[in-house]
Parts: sequence; C-alpha cells; structure tokens
Amino acid sequence: MTNLSLLLATLLLSFSILKSTCLCCPQYQKAALLEFKSLVLGDLADNSSADKMLGGLDTWNSSSDCCHWEMVRCFSRGSSKEVTGLNLSNLFPLDSNVTSDVLKPIFRIRSLMTLDLSYNSMKGEIPRTGFANLTKLVYLDLNNNNLNGSIPSQLFSLRYLEFLDLSTNAIGGKLSSSVAGLKNLEQLILNGNLIQGQIPAEIGNLTNLHKLLLLQNEFSGGIPLSLLQLRELETLDLRRNSLSGEIPNDIGILANMTTLALSNNALTGAIPQSIRDMIKLVTLRLDSNVLAGEIPTWLFDLHDMKSLFLGGNKLKWNNNVSIVPKCMLTELSLRSCSVRGPMPLWLSNQTELAFLDLSENELEGTYPQWLAEPNLGTVILSDNMLTGSLPPRLFESRNLSVLVLSRNNFSGELPETMGQSTSVMVLMLSSNNFSGHVPKSISNMYRLLVLDLSDNGFSGEFPSFGSNSLTACIDISSNRFSGEVPSAFGETTFMLSLSENNFSGQLPPNLSKLNLLKHLDLHDTNLTGEFPAFLSQMSSLQVLNLRNTALKGSITDGLSNLTSLRILDLSNNNFEGKIPSSFGNLAGMIDTPIISSRLPETLMFPIEIFNVSVEIQDLIVNWKNSKQRLSGKSLAIYSLLDLSNNQLSGEIPSSLGSLKGLKSLNLSYNELQGNIPSTFGTLEILEALDLSHNSLSGKIPQTFANLKQLTSLYLSNNKLSGRIPEGPQMDSQIDPIRLVCPEDVEPPPDSVPEEMEKEETGMFSWKATAIGYPVGFLYATAVMYVIGYFNSVPKSSVPWAKSSRNKKFWEL
Ligand SMILES: *[C@@H]1O[C@H](CO)[C@@H](O)[C@H](O)[C@H]1NC(C)=O
Ligand SMILES: *[C@@H]1O[C@H](CO)[C@@H](O)[C@H](O)[C@H]1NC(C)=O
Ligand SMILES: *[C@@H]1O[C@H](CO)[C@@H](O)[C@H](O)[C@H]1NC(C)=O
Ligand SMILES: *[C@@H]1O[C@H](CO)[C@@H](O)[C@H](O)[C@H]1NC(C)=O
Ligand SMILES: *[C@@H]1O[C@H](CO)[C@@H](O)[C@H](O)[C@H]1NC(C)=O
Ligand SMILES: *[C@@H]1O[C@H](CO)[C@@H](O)[C@H](O)[C@H]1NC(C)=O
Ligand SMILES: *[C@@H]1O[C@H](CO)[C@@H](O)[C@H](O)[C@H]1NC(C)=O
Ligand SMILES: *[C@@H]1O[C@H](CO)[C@@H](O)[C@H](O)[C@H]1NC(C)=O
Ligand SMILES: *[C@@H]1O[C@H](CO)[C@@H](O)[C@H](O)[C@H]1NC(C)=O
Ligand SMILES: *[C@@H]1O[C@H](CO)[C@@H](O)[C@H](O)[C@H]1NC(C)=O
Ligand SMILES: *[C@@H]1O[C@H](CO)[C@@H](O)[C@H](O)[C@H]1NC(C)=O
Ligand SMILES: *[C@@H]1O[C@H](CO)[C@@H](O)[C@H](O)[C@H]1NC(C)=O
Repeated sequence: MTNLSLLLATLLLSFSILKSTCLCCPQYQKAALLEFKSLVLGDLADNSSADKMLGGLDTWNSSSDCCHWEMVRCFSRGSSKEVTGLNLSNLFPLDSNVTSDVLKPIFRIRSLMTLDLSYNSMKGEIPRTGFANLTKLVYLDLNNNNLNGSIPSQLFSLRYLEFLDLSTNAIGGKLSSSVAGLKNLEQLILNGNLIQGQIPAEIGNLTNLHKLLLLQNEFSGGIPLSLLQLRELETLDLRRNSLSGEIPNDIGILANMTTLALSNNALTGAIPQSIRDMIKLVTLRLDSNVLAGEIPTWLFDLHDMKSLFLGGNKLKWNNNVSIVPKCMLTELSLRSCSVRGPMPLWLSNQTELAFLDLSENELEGTYPQWLAEPNLGTVILSDNMLTGSLPPRLFESRNLSVLVLSRNNFSGELPETMGQSTSVMVLMLSSNNFSGHVPKSISNMYRLLVLDLSDNGFSGEFPSFGSNSLTACIDISSNRFSGEVPSAFGETTFMLSLSENNFSGQLPPNLSKLNLLKHLDLHDTNLTGEFPAFLSQMSSLQVLNLRNTALKGSITDGLSNLTSLRILDLSNNNFEGKIPSSFGNLAGMIDTPIISSRLPETLMFPIEIFNVSVEIQDLIVNWKNSKQRLSGKSLAIYSLLDLSNNQLSGEIPSSLGSLKGLKSLNLSYNELQGNIPSTFGTLEILEALDLSHNSLSGKIPQTFANLKQLTSLYLSNNKLSGRIPEGPQMDSQIDPIRLVCPEDVEPPPDSVPEEMEKEETGMFSWKATAIGYPVGFLYATAVMYVIGYFNSVPKSSVPWAKSSRNKKFWEL
C-alpha cells in the first residue's frame, strides 16, 4: 500500500514538474525553422505581406512553441519534444524564385521523419550536403519542383526511407555543377563515376523503400539492376524519362510490387517472363516504349491486375487466341499492338472495364453492342477500319466521358438522343463518313471540353451551346455545315476551327465574347463584309486564319493590338489599301519564345479547366511548299504572316522588319509598290520570303545577305533590278536557296521564261495553298493526357496519409 501511494506521489510530482517546465520544441529547432522562414521571405520579390499568404507561415513567430505552428508536427519522447514532421507542400506561389538554398536550416533538424516539400517550384539542385543529417527520414517528397542536377548521394544513406518522390522535376538532365567541370564523359566512365543522368546504382541502398517515384524527370541510361535489391518495393514509377535498355529480366523478384509504371521511355526488349511472379500486381504500365515481341497471355492470369497499359510499343497481340482472363480489368490499352480482325470477344466478359484504348490497330467490323455498356468511361478506337453506325445505346451511358473514334469508316447519323450522355467530356469522330445534321441535344452535354467532328459529311446548321458550357476545343472543319457562322460556344473556348464549310454571311460579333480564344480558323468559308473590327479586341488570339473567305475592304490597324498573334493568314481575299505599318508592333511575331526544356511536350494551347489540361498535338501547315506537321512545340516557335493574293497596294511598311520572330513572310500577288525595305535584312530567322507578283521596284537590298536561314526567296514578277546580294547563305552550295527572281537586270515584262513561271507555280504554290492549317488538330495522345487527369491512373504522388505504415509518424 505504502509503495503504491509513494508511486502515486512521485507520479503526481513528476506531473507537476512537467506542467511547470514548458514541453516545447527545442530552441535550436525553432531557430532553424525561423531561419528557413526568413530565407523564403528573402527570396520573394514582395515579402511585405507574404508570410500571411504563404499558407500559415505567419504562425511561425519566435514567441510561441514551434510545435504549435502550422505545418509542423512534433513527437514527445519522455520529457522532451522534437520536430518530426514538416509539411511544406504547396507553400510558395507558382512563380516564386525560391531556390533550394532555403533548405539549409532544415538539415539541422535531425529528428525529422517526414518532409513534404512538393509543389513548390523550387529551383536549383537538391542540396549536395545536408540529407546525411536527416538519418531518421522515412518520407521525402520533392515532387513538382524545378529541381535539376542529380540525386545527391547523401540521400542514399537514409536507410529508413520508405517513401521517395522526386517526380516532375528536371533531375538527371544536365551535368551537375559538381561534374560539369570534367571535360568529357568518357573520363567519367573510366573513373567509374556515375554519369549524370542515370538513376544512381546506390538507389539499391534504400532497402526499406516502399514507394519510389521518379516520373517526369530527365533520367537516361538503363534501369539500374540494384533496384532489384529493394524487395519491399510496392510502387515503382519511372514514367516519362528517357530510360533505355531492357527491363531487368529478374524484375519479378520484387514480389510485393503492386504498381510498376515505366511508360514513356525508350525501353527495348521483350516483356520479362518474371513479371509472372509479381502476383500482387495491380497496375502495369509499359506503354509508349519500344518493347517488342508477342504480348504474353499470362498477363491476364495475374488475379489482381486492374490496369494494363501496353500500347505504343512494337508489341503484337495475336487476336486469334481467345483467352479466359483470370483478372477483371478496369483499364486496358493495346494501342498500336497489331490487333487484327474483329473486336476481341473475350473483352465482353471484362464487365468492369472503364477504360479501353484499342486505337491504331487493324480492327474490322462494327461497334459491338457489348462495347456500349454503361460502365465504360473511356473508349478510344481511333485509327482502325471499323464500319457501320453507332449503337444508340452508347449515349445512354451516364459514365461515358471520352469517346474517340477518329479515322475509321463509321457512317450514319448521330443518334438524336446523344445529349442524354451528359458525362461526355471528349468526343472525337474526325475523318469518318458520318452524315446528317448534328442533333441539337448535343448542347446538353454541358461537360463537353473537346469536340472534333472534322472531315465528315455533316450538314445543316451547327447547334448552339450555352455560354456556360465548358467547351474548350471545337473542330468542325471540312464538313458541309451551312447557315450563319456559329458563335454560341462556352466562354472557355480557346480553339475554334470552322473552316472548309458552307457557312456564309458576316462574322458574328458574338465571337468576341470568347475572350479566351487563342486559335480561330475560318479558312475556306464564305464570309461577307469587311474585315471584322471586333477581332482586334480578341486579345488572346495566337492564330487567326481567314484565308479564302471573300472578305474585303482594308485590313484594320487595330489588329496590331493582338499582342499574342503568332500566325496570321489573310491571304486569298479581296483586301485592299495599305498594309498597316502598325503590324510592326505585333509583339507575338517579334519574340521567339524560349521553350522550356523541362517540358518537352509543352504545347501551344494548354488550358486548365477543373484541373484538366487539354493540349494540341499537331498542326499541319504548308511550309515551303510541302505539308509539314508542326508539333505543338515547334508551333510555338513558328511565326507566320501571309497577306498574299489580295489587292494590297502602297509601299511595304519598313516596320515589318521588326517582326524578328517571323519564319515565313508572304506578300505575293498584291499590288505593292516601292522598294523592298532594307529592314528585312534584320529578319534573321526568316526561312521563306515571297514578294513575287507585285510592282516592287528598285534594288534587292544588300542586307539580304544577313538572312542566314533563308531557304526560299521569291521575287519574280516585279520591277526589281540589280544583283542578287552575296552572302553566306546566298552562296551556299549545300543548302542552296531556291531563288526565283530576275537574274541581273530587270527583264521586260513579257520575257519571263515560261519555264521559270511554270516551275514557280509548280514548286511553290502559295497562291493555291498558302499557309494552311489543320486537318485533325487534336490527336488521341492529347486525349490520353486529358484522361490522365480524370481517371488519375496511378497518381504521381500517393498521399502518404492513406498508407497506414506512414500514418503513424504523422499522427503522433
Ligand atoms: C524582405 O526582403 C528584403 C530584401 O529582399 C529583406 O531585406 C527583408 O528582410 C525581407 N523581409 C522579411 C520579413 O524577410
Ligand atoms: C505568435 O503566434 C501565436 C500562434 O502561433 C499567436 O497566438 C501569437 O499571438 C503570435 N505572437 C506574435 C507576437 O505575433
Ligand atoms: C521572381 O523574380 C522576378 C525577377 O526578379 C520578379 O519579377 C518576380 O516578381 C519574382 N517572383 C516572385 C513571386 O517573387
Ligand atoms: C548537420 O547538423 C549539424 C547539427 O546537428 C549542423 O551543425 C550541420 O550544419 C548540419 N549539416 C548541414 C549540411 O546542414
Ligand atoms: C550504401 O551501402 C553500403 C553498404 O551498406 C555503404 O558502404 C555505402 O556507403 C552506402 N552508400 C551510400 C551512398 O550511402
Ligand atoms: C539548375 O538550374 C539553375 C537555374 O535554375 C541553373 O543555374 C543551373 O545551372 C542548373 N544546374 C544544372 C545542373 O542543370
Ligand atoms: C511484402 O509484404 C508482406 C505483407 O505486406 C510483408 O510481410 C513482407 O515483409 C513484404 N516484403 C517482402 C520482401 O515480401
Ligand atoms: C490468325 O488466323 C488467320 C486465319 O484464321 C491466319 O491467316 C493468321 O495467320 C492467324 N494469325 C496469327 C498471328 O496466328
Ligand atoms: C464469358 O464468361 C462465361 C462464363 O463466365 C463463359 O461461359 C463465356 O464463354 C465467356 N465468353 C467469352 C467470350 O469468353
Ligand atoms: C456566298 O454567300 C453569298 C451571300 O451570302 C452568296 O450569294 C454566294 O452564292 C455564296 N457563295 C458560295 C460559293 O457559296
Ligand atoms: C488598340 O489599342 C489602343 C491602345 O491600347 C487603343 O487606343 C485602341 O482603341 C485599340 N484598338 C482597337 C481596335 O481595339
Ligand atoms: C501535406 O499537406 C497536403 C495538403 O496541404 C496534403 O495533400 C499532403 O498529403 C500532406 N503531406 C503529407 C506527407 O501528409
């Protein structure tokens, strides 16, 4: 009894002692965190009220216990408390200039177990030194920053690390500063050093890793064999790098693996047999590599398999074998897997299928009834040989969100009731034989983001969408739509292609309500009236194509207000008057935008609606007389100005020489007079210049010798005189410029050799084609991107709080 009361007394005593001394975070840890805060604020241009904006940093003040600060977690052990967790995710503004140097003080908090710095657009390299201090680290998340260089080797000493996410950075890309001094790479190999860019073999030291996420970086080289030492690995995500070589043969030794994602690399060889041993596999993503061989049927014997992505390789699926899968797939991609014949029937038993991509195969037959099941959310069957009309049931589904059937031989009319399917976000039916009118009910599809009906036989008027619909990309070009030019689309529309239809009448001023519109294409439609003045107010426009629309009058001065305009085609119309000298102010044609090397697929028109990114893959332009596909990336670097085949008169404004971003300038077939401005000599990246068929006189400016990239120059049918200037490009034998112009002296008007004329029209028919755009501007790959957002197939960062293993550290 006495013993017990004694114990009680001591307990009470120690309790009161505990109460009287503050159980606070250690002073040095508080100091470290405050230093971190001031480093962050120091990196911000405007830091006056920044700490209030930066999610909770304002609670970090010296007079309070740092364990009570936001984003800080502590753990009390006995009579002491320590900082064990920092969740600094999404702390800085997107455009902030915060560098990784701000992390320095954090390396003094040796008790840290979890560190989340994701979504901070932090620049610079991951600090070389410091991580060795954080020996207790279990969870490290640096995903979505701008970090570059290599993974610091100190990181590989963190033996308790279970979760490592370095996704969406630029790690591995260039030589890190520490090795950049070395003269050549061979030296590095000889020294046995790792070559920057590879995933370091030391990764094999982190034997407790459960999740390793390195997706979307710039790693190259092979998958290190040392990865096979990470036996606890459950998730390995190396997507979107530049990895090459074969998948390690013995990868199946990682028996706990549930998600293996290696998509979008350059991996070769066959699918390793050993994957059969990964009996817990749920997600296997090997798509968009260079894998070859027959797709093994045992993949469908893995019971837990849900997501199987094999498309975009050189793999082949033998559609003759009928399999009885032991798994119930929710997602399957066999894109471009040489699948022949009718739709594989065994798929009809995969009743949980929500995503199916069988595009770019040789499928025949009609759209099967069983594929109109209400579960399916995404069906991509583009680039096959499918025929017949669509089953009406297809649009009864409340789950259908993506339907891509482009480039098949489907025919018939769209079901009148298609609008029932209000879940549809992407509908692409381009290049089929669909006909009839587009049902009015389509406007009930209020979630519709991408609509591509181009290159079919649709006719009648095009239905109106409400202004609050979510349309983003609309392409209805190359059909037989008639009536007024439709303008009722969602205010979020940024791409509108109505070209090659029978629309007529004036351009509706309502179009100017689409103030996010970046791309407007109306070529080959029958517009009446003068140049629509309201276009000058559509300040987002980057591409404006009004080729061959029968517009007349003068070109308005106000167009120069469109500072984003990069591609302007007003050719083949009846415009008259002068070329506005204010065109020299078209800012979008002055700069050549620097394309970030970080996002090789950066495209011209990214849009974010509800976290959805829609991107345009390809635009086809007639470029130096051949149709060329500009990827979205190169598109952004191309600036084109085409005013050819009008009745423009007066002198060419010398201000056009300011448009230094121009790749192509075409003013041919007009009535322009006077000299060629010598300022054209400053258009240094110009590749094609056509001034032919005007009344230009005087000499060819000697400054043309500066046009080092010029490969096509057309000056014929003018009154020019003098010598062709000499310059490096002008003399070049290797890549001779195609020069069609008077030789030395002005030829009498009639004496132009017939041959030359013929040759000209033959090889460079600006007149007929000018700069043309897209047939099918959206590609299924673009859609894949959209899907990535909606279906969130393996998320790049798995919220660790969901994993019970990690949870214990955070909730302490
Ligand atoms: C704000 O930035 C200036 C210089 O950039 C620096 O001197 C000042 O200490 C910063 N203020 C805070 C609160 O960090
Ligand atoms: C410091 O922060 C605490 C909350 O963490 C707050 O209650 C206190 O008022 C703050 N003190 C000062 C001086 O800002
Ligand atoms: C980043 O730096 C640039 C140029 O120094 C500055 O204009 C910009 O405001 C800075 N961004 C932030 C968020 O401080
Ligand atoms: C590691 O922690 C110690 C204190 O424990 C500190 O002095 C040192 O600066 C830290 N190292 C780095 C690189 O931050
Ligand atoms: C990797 O582990 C080995 C043996 O455990 C050790 O000697 C080596 O220092 C570790 N490498 C790194 C970078 O920590
Ligand atoms: C990392 O990026 C910074 C700019 O953010 C640059 O100065 C540095 O050279 C880059 N380092 C490497 C290794 O690419
Ligand atoms: C795999 O997971 C099981 C259960 O989740 C666990 O007991 C085992 O230690 C893990 N590691 C290996 C190598 O199997
Ligand atoms: C599939 O069967 C057809 C005819 O039955 C045959 O011609 C073809 O070679 C077979 N393909 C394969 C890959 O076995
Ligand atoms: C679908 O499954 C049923 C029984 O589960 C089976 O009888 C039938 O043959 C299967 N159909 C196909 C096409 O595999
Ligand atoms: C163009 O439209 C006008 C009137 O709107 C009409 O008279 C003319 O026939 C149309 N031309 C063509 C080729 O459709
Ligand atoms: C173009 O911009 C100028 C000044 O920004 C403005 O005065 C003018 O009205 C604009 N023109 C048109 C047609 O919008
Ligand atoms: C950090 O907080 C964000 C929300 O702000 C959350 O999504 C994320 O899962 C947290 N990280 C950790 C490691 O708990």
